[in-house]
Amino acid sequence: MTIFKALESAKTENGNQLSIVEKSVDDLPEGDILIKVNFSSLNYKDALSASGAPGVTRNYPHTPGIDAAGVIVETNDSNLKEGDSVIVTGYDLGMDTAGGFGEYIRVPASWVIKLPNGLSERDSMALGTAGLTAGLSIQALDDYNSNNGFNGLSAIVTGSTGGVGSIAVMLLSKLDASVTAVTGKNTQKELLQSLGASEIVSREELSELCRTPIGKTIWDFGVDVVSGNILTLLLSSLKPGGAVACSGLVGGPSFESSIFPFILRGNALLGIDSVEIPLERKLQVWENFASDWRLDLTPLVKEVNLEGLENEISTILSGGQVGRVLVNLS
Ligand SMILES: NC(=O)c1ccc[n+]([C@@H]2O[C@H](COP(=O)([O-])OP(=O)(O)OC[C@H]3O[C@@H](n4cnc5c(N)ncnc54)[C@H](OP(=O)(O)O)[C@@H]3O)[C@@H](O)[C@H]2O)c1
Repeated sequence: MTIFKALESAKTENGNQLSIVEKSVDDLPEGDILIKVNFSSLNYKDALSASGAPGVTRNYPHTPGIDAAGVIVETNDSNLKEGDSVIVTGYDLGMDTAGGFGEYIRVPASWVIKLPNGLSERDSMALGTAGLTAGLSIQALDDYNSNNGFNGLSAIVTGSTGGVGSIAVMLLSKLDASVTAVTGKNTQKELLQSLGASEIVSREELSELCRTPIGKTIWDFGVDVVSGNILTLLLSSLKPGGAVACSGLVGGPSFESSIFPFILRGNALLGIDSVEIPLERKLQVWENFASDWRLDLTPLVKEVNLEGLENEISTILSGGQVGRVLVNLS
């Protein structure tokens, strides 16, 4: 029987408490594929699950971790072989299925992607769900723009020092867009410039630049993870035919808009889901990151082990996240 370490969140009278526990692979749910996890990553949703936020994880004690990369150790699927390096993100992993903050996971074969050539397990988790979401957002904008690319176009990215935002800034800049980064952290301007942002604006400056219900036309495209007032401002400031891809809600679940951007400028709001989409769509993004979209994430990545995760969970919950937290379980 294999015993392994996992970060577990348990409900107590004083709220959820985190601890490192020993578990057996026999404790894992049934599934087709047993994976030795070598890397995971921290996403905002993991912090919500770890802290017992309502509507995320139903059953505790629970091991969070919506991302995992590792090696197959048991399989009953003929396409996925023992020893294959694989990625699992989303679906129910880390929600009510024990997740990547444990050294082993067991999951259905339909959740498992073979690591594309050109991407290491470490690279894939430096990107993680945040990178996948940034990639899906940028793919959706390009599809909306008839796959004409971003050369010469302007884009705005919100929550730009966070996981999704920082990778979106890097990727849009690599694709030759001129990128405005919106941030609440005036200490991170140099980092954002190094990622490729040509302009950096604070949340307050954004309120001065943009007028509602309809203002000056400033950007072709937006990648938004904040929602709330920030999304309201982005929608009122797009150029004709422009669009915003929205994936997050760190600024609240609701936003206001008028009909004007949609009927006067033909703008669009594109919703991004990285969790339940078909595996083939996830694979396409991973393959892009392994080839044309290859990014050097070194300046963005902080590596921790399971013991170091609790501090990082507090930081991300307080909005203080900068870049990506890679979890090394190898
Ligand atoms: N739809 C999907 O499939 C999907 C997938 C991944 C993530 N998400 C969602 O996307 C959001 C971002 O995820 P993430 O992993 O990138 O989180 P993150 O690493 O914590 O980054 C969020 C960033 O947003 C900014 N921010 C935080 N609180 C804010 C507030 N109250 N008002 C305005 N800006 C604020 C901060 O950046 P600055 O200080 O630079 O402004 C922060 O670093 C979350 O809501 C997450 O649940 C959705």
